[in-house]
This record gives sequence, C-alpha cells and structure tokens, in this order.
Amino acid sequence: MNRNYLNVRFKAKTTLQAGHMERRTFIKKLALGSALLAGILSLLGILRAIVPKLTRDKMTYKLGHAADFPMNTFTLAEKASVFIYRDHVGLRAVSALCTHLGCTLEQSDDGFLCPCHGSSFDGDGRAQSGPAPQSLAWFQVSLAPDGQLVVDKTKRVSSADIFRIT
Ligand code: FES
Repeated sequence: MNRNYLNVRFKAKTTLQAGHMERRTFIKKLALGSALLAGILSLLGILRAIVPKLTRDKMTYKLGHAADFPMNTFTLAEKASVFIYRDHVGLRAVSALCTHLGCTLEQSDDGFLCPCHGSSFDGDGRAQSGPAPQSLAWFQVSLAPDGQLVVDKTKRVSSADIFRIT
C-alpha cells in the first residue's frame, strides 16, 4: 500500500474518533443541563407552595371605619385591591383584580370592566364577557377590636354574604 494512502486513512480515523468524543461530551453536558433544570424547576415548585403560607399575614387588611365608605356604591380600597360595597344592611368586599391577568378593574354602569382586555363582570362579580375565565372572588369582612373593617383575602364567601352593621 501506498504510504500517502495510509496517512490519509489514519487522519480520517482520528478525525472520526474526535467527532465521536465531541458527541459524547455534548450528550453528557446535555444530560447534566437537563438534570440541573429539572432540579431548579422542582425547587421553584416547592417555594411556590411555601411562599403563600409565609405571606398569609399580608392577605388581611384594615380598611378604616364603615362610615368611610359611601352608601349604595362600590368604593375601591387600593391597598387591598378590593371594592367595598356598603348599603343599609352592611358591607361586602369583592376582588378588584381581573381574573384574566390581574389588571385592576374599573366600575361600569352595571358592574366592573377591565381596562386591559375588555372583560366585564356584573355587580355580583359574575364574568359576563371577554377573556376572563372566572367570576370575581368575594372575601370575608369583619370588625377589628379598634372598630376598623378587616378584609381577609384568605377567606372566600358568597356574594350574598353581608357583614351586618348593628
Ligand atoms: Fe382583564 Fe385581560 S386582564 S381582560
């Protein structure tokens, strides 16, 4: 055999082996990266489950006295992102956050309207139109020892539940 032919063949074999090694290294790195990503996602899932429990205190808001809220209308309490409705019977609190992507709702003639993508809700918080997938949540209202209204966003109630003022 020709010496040049053997040289070319040896180089080709060496190049093939190098390519094979690079592929193995790449696959090893890919597997390691996938395992790392899976670990990070698992950790985020655990944190997501824990964090709401740690922030539960921030779900309860003192909103002032009942007399601060005008009669027969919804008033936005921004710090709690709820609308408070007060009438001669008592008070109710409904979420002011759209169930689509969480924009703050505005009052409309017959309920609430989302300025972001146009979802609408009736006065009982029921979704009427738009991309919003669910009705609005109503939250428990109570009275703190100092006489201020307390809205607890961890406790959902029906739209008919009224905190009666005596
Ligand atoms: Fe309200 Fe999209 S955030 S409709």
